[in-house]
Amino acid sequence: MKIIKTKVLVTGCAGFIGSKVTDTLLFKNFNVIGIDSFIPYYSIKIKQHNLKSALKNEKFKLIRMDLSEVSIHELHNILKNIDYVIHEAAQPGVRDSWGIKFDAYVKHNILATQKLLEAAIRSDIKNFIYASSSSVYGNLKTMPLREDTILNPYSPYGITKLAAENLCKAYHENYGLPVTILRYFTVYGPRQRPDMAFYRFIKSMLKRDPVTIYGDGFQRRDFTYIDDIVNATLNAMKCESRLNGEVINIGSSKPIKLIEAVNLIADIIGVEPKIIFNEEMRGDVKITYADISKAKKLLNWRPKTKLREGLEREIKWIKEIMNLGIF
Ligand code: NAD
Ligand code: UGA
Repeated sequence: MKIIKTKVLVTGCAGFIGSKVTDTLLFKNFNVIGIDSFIPYYSIKIKQHNLKSALKNEKFKLIRMDLSEVSIHELHNILKNIDYVIHEAAQPGVRDSWGIKFDAYVKHNILATQKLLEAAIRSDIKNFIYASSSSVYGNLKTMPLREDTILNPYSPYGITKLAAENLCKAYHENYGLPVTILRYFTVYGPRQRPDMAFYRFIKSMLKRDPVTIYGDGFQRRDFTYIDDIVNATLNAMKCESRLNGEVINIGSSKPIKLIEAVNLIADIIGVEPKIIFNEEMRGDVKITYADISKAKKLLNWRPKTKLREGLEREIKWIKEIMNLGIF
């Protein structure tokens, strides 16, 4: 077996995307240090389950810490021997980012990122990959969304993700830190967060409960399968020299109406969907649709997973965790 000594730091390693990135890196024989503070945004049991396989691997080390609270000196000691940083840790969720909850978004998305960047400029990092979001675009009309469009985030969450992007750029421009910003578009698949639409729809339909749609169901999302997201993120490690300072959309580039997704899930499960239509949620945009020409060119990447196939895998996983009583 080829021995790879490259060390990667994955923040948010117990979360949906971070744990999948971690498992894939370990499978490819990288050494991985994972940081997570296990914020209680959703069940800790799910996060522990996400890390089950990684924790059995001797190439993985878990550090339980809050990036926003640790000293830069302590973080620098961790980063000293790291080649790549994949920064997934955040307080996610568009609709929950109003009111008093905004504090958590500032803490985990802005303060934590600034600490990590401060430590990174004191280290010898080959690339700092930041997991950004389609939510930085806002409620725009011109589609598909190109990376150079004027940004107008529509939710407090999107505002904090854009602030962190801008921090990455400032550290890149002032200190020469190699950074790559990946704007992920609504990610789905096994390990998806329980607050997200597909998880909620699948769980409700498996239990023969009604699903709730916010708005008329005509909002469109560029749903992107987790393995495609992970592949793009790992490609951003490989292609570091041509990615310095770049911002790149990672999406399926095939937006569909939410109501169509509900009908597809119902068809796969084999139920007649019962739908409750509720008020549109503040912060929710009408459409996300990624222009992925930059990702194709710079990352040599293409999304591979068809929606039906990805949903079948997510349904299988949700059945498994429901049987285990983890939710
Ligand atoms: P997640 O909540 O499942 O994972 C995030 C992890 O980060 C959690 O385990 C949490 O405990 C950890 N964390 C949060 N704050 C921390 C801190 N201060 N210190 C240490 N650990 C901390 O979320 P996810 O869906 O996997 O999202 C991962 C990243 O991708 C986030 O940056 C998110 O904004 C971004 N993103 C997600 C999606 C999506 O559809 N899931 C789309 C676009 C962008
Ligand atoms: C998702 C993630 O949750 C964000 O963390 C991420 O940053 C963002 O994608 C992104 O692309 O950047 P969102 O698009 O809102 O945000 O994804 P879902 O939670 O899957 O919601 C999709 C749509 O379904 C939204 O319009 C939402 O209002 C709707 N929805 C959600 C319902 O109608 N019912 C529900 O029960 C849940």
